[in-house]
Amino acid sequence: MTRNEALTLLREHLTNENLVRHCLATEVIMAALAERLGKDIEKWRVAGLVHDLDFEETKDTPDQHGLKTVAVLEEKGLDPETLQAVRSHNEALGVPRESDFDHALACAETITGLIVATALVQPDKKLASVRPESVIKRMKKKDFARSVNRDAIRECEMLDIPLPDFAALSVQAMSGIAGELGL
Ligand SMILES: [Fe+2]
Repeated sequence: MTRNEALTLLREHLTNENLVRHCLATEVIMAALAERLGKDIEKWRVAGLVHDLDFEETKDTPDQHGLKTVAVLEEKGLDPETLQAVRSHNEALGVPRESDFDHALACAETITGLIVATALVQPDKKLASVRPESVIKRMKKKDFARSVNRDAIRECEMLDIPLPDFAALSVQAMSGIAGELGL
């Protein structure tokens, strides 16, 4: 599946623009991680884009989140690694994260929330004003963006990427599509 096919598929399933933006943000961080780690950029990009495809369909059944996406992707012939990464990103499913790909998707999709929340408390509410150090500083404040799972973000260390590097890489990747993200 190409990146554009993945985006078309995503838009067939999601109507909430903020969810689409979350997926676009995850996509660009996955691409940056793949580049840094020498992995398949297109494959990681696609996983980032589609990982929350069933979010609206499963909003009342969060223990199903990911399973419907996997069923859709399986029908489209996606590879088993992508299916596993999507499945394991929802901790409620109890599927352990094992590969670099799994950890990458978990930390990438999670840091997007922290970065968006950090942008929104800047005077101009712009990504351009977000410094990676302030993302990390806010990550350490429990009361800031409480729903963001700090442990999932720290999984970047399983990829041998230190947290400050991961924050910098993620802010930079998202800044490249700031307009599309509305930030
Ligand atoms: Fe997500």
